[in-house]
Amino acid sequence: MQRLLDTLEETHLLDKAGLVRLLEWDSPALIHAADRVRKRYVGEEVHLRGLIEFSNYCRNSCFYCGLRAPNNRIKRFRMDIREIMEYARRAVGWGLKTIVLQSGEDGSYPIDDLCRVVSDIKDMDVAVTLSIGERTKEEYACLKRAGANRYLLRIETSNPRLYERFHPGMSFQNRVRCLYYLKELGYEVGTGCLIGLPGQTVEMLAEDLLFFKRLDIDMLGMGPFIPCPLTPLENEKGGQVPLVLKMMALARLLMPDINMPATTALATMDKNGYQKGLKAGANVIMPNMGRPDYRRLYALYPGKAGSMEDGLARLKSAREIIMKAGRKVGRGCGNRKRVLKKA
Ligand code: 5AD
Repeated sequence: MQRLLDTLEETHLLDKAGLVRLLEWDSPALIHAADRVRKRYVGEEVHLRGLIEFSNYCRNSCFYCGLRAPNNRIKRFRMDIREIMEYARRAVGWGLKTIVLQSGEDGSYPIDDLCRVVSDIKDMDVAVTLSIGERTKEEYACLKRAGANRYLLRIETSNPRLYERFHPGMSFQNRVRCLYYLKELGYEVGTGCLIGLPGQTVEMLAEDLLFFKRLDIDMLGMGPFIPCPLTPLENEKGGQVPLVLKMMALARLLMPDINMPATTALATMDKNGYQKGLKAGANVIMPNMGRPDYRRLYALYPGKAGSMEDGLARLKSAREIIMKAGRKVGRGCGNRKRVLKKA
């Protein structure tokens, strides 16, 4: 097993069978190897991304998500352009160098309005990341021209059957197509998966990692599935933190120069989740910079970490976590710096 790990640390290559074996191996050696590779390739900086969740309306019905359209028991909110700008300005004022705009798949914002927000935020000289779901190539292109730098669209699972089981009315193929559009248009592209979905096997997780590697993604967000009330999966078992950490470690070993957050879902499942993530290969934290009362409504899953604090308090605690981990708060925009040549 150690030899398998040494080869992976050296070459950043491994096949599915090897990944499965390492996923089934419980040894701190895996985490330590990922930490060394993280240090060697992306250094001690941890980049902060200011997340603004601007609408919880969603047209989709993902089985795991509290914001699914059929859930009529939650209160919906939608920030207008002016309000989004207010919170973005505040986050930039506090020193954040990336603003991430995220929402459910809410069709009610005209594309021109979204482009306006992007270009107004770009005027503050920060990076803009969008996470607003599946759109047309033309829309992705408009937003890129308006200045957007990065886009997050998780594949959720790279297994087409599992994907279709949990995403009624959606198409795996279209989601992959969106990822290719985004790459083609020159975005830095982020994707990721849920870990611990019902019916998900370690083989599928190994395939997720190979899918990310094959796509040559720039950013990777992975977190435990957390059962959410009022969804079809409310009574299922959730994902386990140790498995998430192993997935993160393997991701870092396979894709040494990507940006990878310690996710909010991880921090929700474990009070030391951010710290553990940072030790298992992560180099990004995405503190929530939206309006506290809206944040509670953005309930993808129950108990989302730190829901009561305001933006500044979140930012402070993120900075503290970074310092305590012996790392540095990132100073620039934190773009991916490609070290490995494309395979
Ligand atoms: N548990 C964990 N993560 C979830 N997400 C949605 N619902 C849940 C849940 N119940 C994740 C999805 C989505 C991201 C914004 O939140 O992976 O892409």
